[in-house]
Amino acid sequence: MGQQLDSANRAGILNAFSDAATSAAPRYFIDGAGGQVHPANFSQLKADEDTWNVFWARPETQKLARRVDYLFKCYFPRLHSLYTNVLADLCKNDPDLDPNFEGCCFAASTLNFEHAVSVPHRDSKNLVCGECAVHSEGSFDHKKGGHLILWDLKLIVEFPPGCTALFPSALLRHSNASIQASESCHSMTFYSASGLFRWRHNNYMSDKDFLAGAPREQLGKWNEHRDNLWQTGLDLLQSL
Ligand SMILES: [Fe+2]
Repeated sequence: MGQQLDSANRAGILNAFSDAATSAAPRYFIDGAGGQVHPANFSQLKADEDTWNVFWARPETQKLARRVDYLFKCYFPRLHSLYTNVLADLCKNDPDLDPNFEGCCFAASTLNFEHAVSVPHRDSKNLVCGECAVHSEGSFDHKKGGHLILWDLKLIVEFPPGCTALFPSALLRHSNASIQASESCHSMTFYSASGLFRWRHNNYMSDKDFLAGAPREQLGKWNEHRDNLWQTGLDLLQSL
C-alpha cells in the first residue's frame, strides 16, 4: 500500500536528497542487530557518515521519517506498537544506542541516490511478519520505469516519485524497474532487523545465551512462542 507526499513537502525532501547526493556516491546508515553480537549503531566510513549527516540535518528528512511512522501506524497499528515499544526498550536498556529519528519507530534507514534500482531479493534479516517502508523521490516518468515489482504476488506497481510504499520485505521477493538514463530516482528505506525483536524477547540477550541459561519452564514458553510465530505474525498484521 502507498501514499504520496503533497507538492510542498516533495520539494523539500527532493532538495534534501539532492544536497546529500552531491556530497558522495550512494551511501547508507543502519542501526540494527543483524549479524552483530548485540544491538549497536552501525559503524561506517567517514564519507558515508558525512552523507547521512547532510541528509539527516534537513528538517524535511525528519518530517518524512515522522510521516512514514504515521503511515505505518495508520495501516498496521499493532505492528507499529511492537516496533515502537521494542525500539524504546532497547534504547532505555542501552544508553549507547542512538535512534535514527525522533518519532519514527523504524530502527534502520538506507539511502540510495540517483539511480536507485534493485535486483529481485528478500530482506531476510528483517522481521518476517514486519513491514518496511520505501519512499521514492527524484525526477522520472513512473509510467515508463521505477515500478515496484512484487514477484510472489505477480504484481508490478507504478511507484511515482513522492510516494511511500509499505510491504513485508522479508516475506516478499521484490525489486524495482530501471529508469531512463536521463532521469533520477532516489529512495529512502525504513526497516528494523528481526534480531532486535529477538534480543528484546529474550530479555536483552541472544537466542544462544537465552537457551543456554533458561530454566525448563521458560524454555517451554519460548518454544511455544516460536511454534506460534506464524499466527502471531498474522495477528500483528490486523488493522484493529
Ligand atoms: Fe529490499
